[in-house]
Amino acid sequence: MAGGGGSPLEALEEESQLGTVLPTRFEASSLKKRKWGFLFTGIVGGSLVAVYAVATPFIIPALRKICLPFVPATPKQIENVMTMLRCRRGSVVDIGSGDGRIVIAAAKEGFTAVGYELNPWLVWYSRYRAWQEGVHKSAKFYISDLWKVTFSGYTNVVIFGVPQMMPLLERKLELELGQDARVIACRFPFPCWIPAHVTGEGIDTVWAYDVGTFGGSRWRPGRVERSQLAART
Ligand SMILES: C[S@@+](CC[C@H](N)C(=O)[O-])C[C@H]1O[C@@H](n2cnc3c(N)ncnc32)[C@H](O)[C@@H]1O
Repeated sequence: MAGGGGSPLEALEEESQLGTVLPTRFEASSLKKRKWGFLFTGIVGGSLVAVYAVATPFIIPALRKICLPFVPATPKQIENVMTMLRCRRGSVVDIGSGDGRIVIAAAKEGFTAVGYELNPWLVWYSRYRAWQEGVHKSAKFYISDLWKVTFSGYTNVVIFGVPQMMPLLERKLELELGQDARVIACRFPFPCWIPAHVTGEGIDTVWAYDVGTFGGSRWRPGRVERSQLAART
């Protein structure tokens, strides 16, 4: 029996009140715990989804048949690319534009510059950087797979690729580019073309190839079908 010296009836009432008050307090504290539990699960779950969403576009290029990860060009490399663009006119395209640094540098030099990049985060960041640098009107970025883009409309093509992709890209560009086009390769040269100019050294080496001088190339436009290229990428 609860309570002290009251009548049995009072004691009974007191007991029945305790019976309702105690479970209510218990329920309130367990509700509070559940709320924190939901909040904690939401925060952890949300953070995991955010990490996954940000990290996946950076990991996907490494899982493709040709692994082309995001490695930004060094300042010296950009300087060398700009040297190769000196005295050139028209448009510039960076194939796999990363954070947009080459496209932005070209736009600052007065070119209409375009970047194609698979990673949407890098494309959005590039657009932001172009806007910050005041060149958003002449620097454009697109989320695209480089193997599905036709580069025929460009007069200057920049690629910082990997050795495995260079033979395929060489054939693709031979099929697509006009006679007045220049292709600039950073760090890794094309296997068959003969460069018109080479500048820099080590990892900053840059090669410039003029399509008009490809007469002696092993592959001529038309010898490799588009379907053959698609099958290999
Ligand atoms: C070596 S980084 C070069 C970045 C930039 N061009 C620079 O010089 O700073 C190669 C870029 O190509 C992108 N990439 C990889 N596979 C691609 C594909 N299939 N289509 C378009 N971009 C791709 C990567 O996400 C990465 O940003």
